[in-house]
Amino acid sequence: MSETMRMTSRGRAVLLSAALALTGSPVAGPAAAQGPVRDVARAEAPLRGAFAGDFRVGGTLNLDHVYGRDLAGRALVAHHFNAISPENLLKWEAVEPQPGRFAFEAPDWYVNYGVENGMWVVGHTLVWHSQTPPWVFMGPDGQPASRDTLLARMRSHIRAVVGRYRGRIGGWDVVNEVLDEDGTLRQSPWLRIIGPDYIRLAFQYAHEADPGAELYYNDYSLEMPAKRAGAVRLVRELKAQGVPITGVGLQGHHKMDWPTLEAEDSTINAFAALGMKVMITELDIDVLPRQGFGADVAARGPQGCDCRMNPYVAGLPDSVQQALAKRYADFFALYRRHHGVITRVTFWGVTDRDSWLNDWPVRGRTNHPLLFGWRGETKPAFDAVLRAARPAASSAGGGDADLRSSAWTAAPLQQ
Ligand code: G3I
Repeated sequence: MSETMRMTSRGRAVLLSAALALTGSPVAGPAAAQGPVRDVARAEAPLRGAFAGDFRVGGTLNLDHVYGRDLAGRALVAHHFNAISPENLLKWEAVEPQPGRFAFEAPDWYVNYGVENGMWVVGHTLVWHSQTPPWVFMGPDGQPASRDTLLARMRSHIRAVVGRYRGRIGGWDVVNEVLDEDGTLRQSPWLRIIGPDYIRLAFQYAHEADPGAELYYNDYSLEMPAKRAGAVRLVRELKAQGVPITGVGLQGHHKMDWPTLEAEDSTINAFAALGMKVMITELDIDVLPRQGFGADVAARGPQGCDCRMNPYVAGLPDSVQQALAKRYADFFALYRRHHGVITRVTFWGVTDRDSWLNDWPVRGRTNHPLLFGWRGETKPAFDAVLRAARPAASSAGGGDADLRSSAWTAAPLQQ
């Protein structure tokens, strides 16, 4: 490995220095990543300015951004976004890996970065069945923890984390993915051990720790009628109990043919009718096939790739770029129509290189689900989204009035 490259946890090469990004040296990785990395950060109209009259536009920070291994990506964040979400660095396993032993270095940097740049800083996530260490659910005898033990752990975790960033993290995904596809409560360890009131109590503890923070329920596939109906029931019940819930996060892990715009529209309306703020919290659009992956070994191509299931290693063909652009434009036009209700649209990742969809549902594919490509370049979808903005706004170079210079230069943490 060259001195200037380092492999991420996904095994992909990322930039170590901004200088490398700016001089346009080639990077390793799939063919889609070959070629110079373009510094488009300051050359294009910022997304945050384009939608300033409608809602905030956000992206995620990962450890490569925090530790300065991807400064080109961080430049894109600073230029285009006025909201940030932590992809993994504030999840329980990252922030409290051992009982009562907290690791706040990366989260502290993340929160400071957002605050100093005038961004809306999101906390993701407090209570989830995934990326929570096994000890959380375990009693001293190796058996499942008691209700009281788990509640005490939940309360102390929430107090410590929400309390530390009181007044600086604007909104928290308090509970994440609590419903199954049929709209019933997910059979998670939280539900099995504590019972259904774990949701109400999580909100209560978060509110105690920061009474000023917005508090959200965040989930995927709420566009599916049964799941949406369950979510509507849940939010109604929480409100009836006086639970301080502010909003609902629609994750927005879209596909090229799902959800329909009508389903998205109805979903936004359903939560708006309950008085909820609505956020699109994890937006991406998967362009890769999902069904039957890996089934046909004969479909593997010369580089050993399964070309049928991983067809865009060399880049996205123009026809698909255009289809993706139209799909994004349609969603943003819809989101703009709901600008009174939608407060934020956040992309899950910054460039295609960052996306979790390169590793899910199949590891090691080359996906293209975001607005910035593998080399940081703007894609036709980026232009289409800008065109979907208010005409006056899309030609403006500025951003939110409260957003300070994008040239923020905190030294990266040393790892
Ligand atoms: O931290 C380990 C590292 O120690 C290990 O060496 C490495 C080996 O692969 O794995 C690392 O863990 C990875 C983790 O991200 C942190 O990078 C996991 O393998 C990987 O599965 C995990 O994926 C994350 C996923 O949540 C886990 O559920 C994705 O990056 C992240 O984008 C994704 O985000 C979720 C949202 O939080 C909730 N909604 C769905 C969304 C997509 O799944």
